[in-house]
Amino acid sequence: MLFVYSCSSNLKRDATQQSNNTKKQDTVLTEKTVWKPNDTLNISNDTFGSLVKYGRELLLNTPYYIGPNGTVSKNLGNIMTCSNCHLSAGTVPFGFNFFSSHARYPQYRAREDKILTLADRVNNCIERPHSGKPLALNSKEMIAIVSYIKWLGSKTIVGEHVYGDSPMPLDFPNRAANPEKGENVYIAQCLTCHGKSGEGKLNEKNTAYIYPPLWGPQSYQKGSSMHRITKAASFIYCNMPQKVATYQNPKLSVEEAFDVAAFINDDRIHPRPYELKIIDYPNLKHKPIDFGTGPYIDSFPQLQHKFGPFKPIKDWYLKHGLEIH
Ligand code: HEC
Ligand code: HEC
Repeated sequence: MLFVYSCSSNLKRDATQQSNNTKKQDTVLTEKTVWKPNDTLNISNDTFGSLVKYGRELLLNTPYYIGPNGTVSKNLGNIMTCSNCHLSAGTVPFGFNFFSSHARYPQYRAREDKILTLADRVNNCIERPHSGKPLALNSKEMIAIVSYIKWLGSKTIVGEHVYGDSPMPLDFPNRAANPEKGENVYIAQCLTCHGKSGEGKLNEKNTAYIYPPLWGPQSYQKGSSMHRITKAASFIYCNMPQKVATYQNPKLSVEEAFDVAAFINDDRIHPRPYELKIIDYPNLKHKPIDFGTGPYIDSFPQLQHKFGPFKPIKDWYLKHGLEIH
């Protein structure tokens, strides 16, 4: 099947080049092989192995252990689970996985303009989107999460990415993402699970979500990566509606993914938890082009940074020798 045509521009280019060289393109597809994470059958029966298992457990059932009513600690401010976004404990290609995460930290982080360890980065997600308090760096829970991520990517090369570990790069639509069109996509494709008011659906005991919330006080905050249109659109394009879309076989068009991401993340209509501490890109050169609040290094209006069109901003950055984040 020619699924590669429906995905990223890079894949498309590979396939097009291929079709110029050979007529039998359907049998010689050049989709790069996505990297395969370690298999849980390979978890060792020793101290490290038990930490890895606990780390995986924490990613799958986060609120049970460290949620507002957690059995171990009460670090999180909401009852979302890491795996609501880092799908299947960070093992899904183009699903915010952890394939090469251990190999790429410590790394420079633009948001703080500092070098962060993997544990610091875990705590970033605990503070935002989980509205929580950082885990102690020497807590069993932090060590378990980092051990799991290390184990998952144990065959990766220090400092290097592997194919499929990053959000799928989508071609920017030529127009701004449109929240009104996005609402129609939401009603047709998302509402049954995520609810009329984006509130999601709790399990019977109200201890975790069957379907996580997309906005409102129990959802992620402004300034979470999912609040950025390009990140959310890429995730949605490859993974939603759940059990229907995959990165090989997306259900929405790229424009629909941008529109619905814009609808979900439109702060004019959808409230989010209040954020106390805002550390945002001390060095504006490294600020993502779709970050929804200024200041910016360029003079494009805030609304264009939020919803696009992103192409003119991207071109401006390239012209000025700046990297696109
Ligand atoms: C609402 C969605 C969401 C939830 C819930 C969430 N994260 Fe994240 N997390 C993200 C996004 C989006 C990124 C950025 C991914 C990217 O840009 O590739 C990220 C990045 C990370 C990274 C850095 C990965 C890398 O390779 O750079 C780590 C580690 C991480 N999260 C850990 C966690 C942990 C642990 C939890 C649970 C306590 C958690 N996250 C919960 C959305 C979420
Ligand atoms: C069949 C039910 C279902 C449908 C339909 C569905 N989702 Fe989801 N969605 C889920 C589940 C379940 C998760 C959490 C994944 C997990 O825990 O494995 C999720 C996670 C998400 C997340 C990340 C977590 C969060 O709360 O921020 C976003 C964003 C999202 N969905 C957007 C959408 C959009 C947009 C659509 C429509 C195009 C959609 N979903 C359709 C079930 C669904």
